[in-house]
Amino acid sequence: MDKIAIVILAAGFGTRMKSQKAKVCFKICGDEMITHILRKSYEITDDVSVILHYNFDEVKDLVLSKFPNTKIYHQDVQNYPGTGGALKGVKFNADKIVVLCGDMPLVKVDEIKRLAENDADIALSMFEAKNPFGYGRVIIKNGKVEKIVEEKDANADEKAVKLANAGCYAFKREILDEILPQISNQNAQNEYYLTDTIKIAKDKQKIVKAVLVDETNFMGINDKFALANAEIIMQNEIKQNLMKSGVIMHLPDTIYIDPKAKFEGECELENGVSIIGECVIKNSIIKAHSVIENSLVEDSDIGPMAHLRPDCEVKGTHIGNFVELKKAKVNNIKAGHLSYLGDCEIDSGTNVGCGTITCNYDGKKKYKTIIGKNVFIGSDTQLVAPVNIADDVMIAAGTTVTSDIQSGELAISRIKQTNIKGFFNKFFGGENAKK
Ligand code: UD1
Ligand code: MG
Repeated sequence: MDKIAIVILAAGFGTRMKSQKAKVCFKICGDEMITHILRKSYEITDDVSVILHYNFDEVKDLVLSKFPNTKIYHQDVQNYPGTGGALKGVKFNADKIVVLCGDMPLVKVDEIKRLAENDADIALSMFEAKNPFGYGRVIIKNGKVEKIVEEKDANADEKAVKLANAGCYAFKREILDEILPQISNQNAQNEYYLTDTIKIAKDKQKIVKAVLVDETNFMGINDKFALANAEIIMQNEIKQNLMKSGVIMHLPDTIYIDPKAKFEGECELENGVSIIGECVIKNSIIKAHSVIENSLVEDSDIGPMAHLRPDCEVKGTHIGNFVELKKAKVNNIKAGHLSYLGDCEIDSGTNVGCGTITCNYDGKKKYKTIIGKNVFIGSDTQLVAPVNIADDVMIAAGTTVTSDIQSGELAISRIKQTNIKGFFNKFFGGENAKK
């Protein structure tokens, strides 16, 4: 097969996002738009370039932090504005050059491959738009692609054409090398249009083909409304695939799932659940409005309204409402209500009473709490870390644990209760008190 290079156009100003931030750095389903398109590009080839200009350093640093082998180009927007200008000065070695846009996070790998594998000199992506306003129109005569006319340069007849240029292309390298220097900026926007390559190629008797693609997948994100819609589309696809592969979801429209999350066995998600980052959920039920971030949950039930912050490993466990975990490794325990369990390990058979807190932070550093097997932690216990609790320990309700507890011991730290007779009526002026 031909050697393929992918180049992603991402130099535009993204004015309609109304933000200082570069458009391609906005996130959809947990990842920046540019990250989505780069991940898919690398599924096709290891020769990937990105063209940048607006917020050059911000985008470059992001791209290289995630995909260090990416080639970065800085478009000379002053002298060569436009999608054609973006490719000036870029040197390609591959046989096929696939041009994608950084603001099209929904494009599918299969669709990019279909463009790349087309044997035409230029293959362009096209869809029939219900409302083609704003798109370049693909003009076809006698079944042959003639040219692409931009909205701003189109006459009335051309504007009536519904065939829209989806904005991605596959060029044979020698065709691109030959034609790119020939495009001019004599148009309504005084830009170098990449779309002009089509007419030039056709005039040179080159073979130009239009590949029909899905309008939704090629949606360009230009404002924050489109950003939200793209996220809904991506979420629906993720959830549909998971439900088809066996995950039960209640009111799926209210559930958010990161594309990197993995599910195994019998899993059930109630309404309002968020699964964020690289979670693995196995044979578990996550009850309403719980949030799980970058954690492993296995053979457990979580929530409702529980929060597993990053780096938890929860196995065979019941986590109830208003329980927050962070960097917690818990195995076969119960923590039913209102607790904070951070930077800790808790072993099997242990019951964490309501209101238990691991005091893991002294204002400067974080410390660990280690709790053994079969520990009964009474309600309202504070465990001041670092602290170790051995197996088979009982901690009385209301205890502040500041030192280690050995196996078999009861730990209790409370002042003795005193009851003062007649105090209530004396204080509030009840029936026997003098007024
Ligand atoms: C472009 C096409 C249009 C097509 C539409 C599909 C041209 C001239 N027009 O129009 O036919 O229907 O996409 O969405 O190509 N970019 C640069 N440098 C620039 C200008 C743009 O890198 O100087 C990048 C942008 O960041 C963006 C992509 O190219 O990722 C497309 O640019 P955009 O301004 O959105 O082009 P459209 O006007 O939408
Ligand atoms: Mg656009």
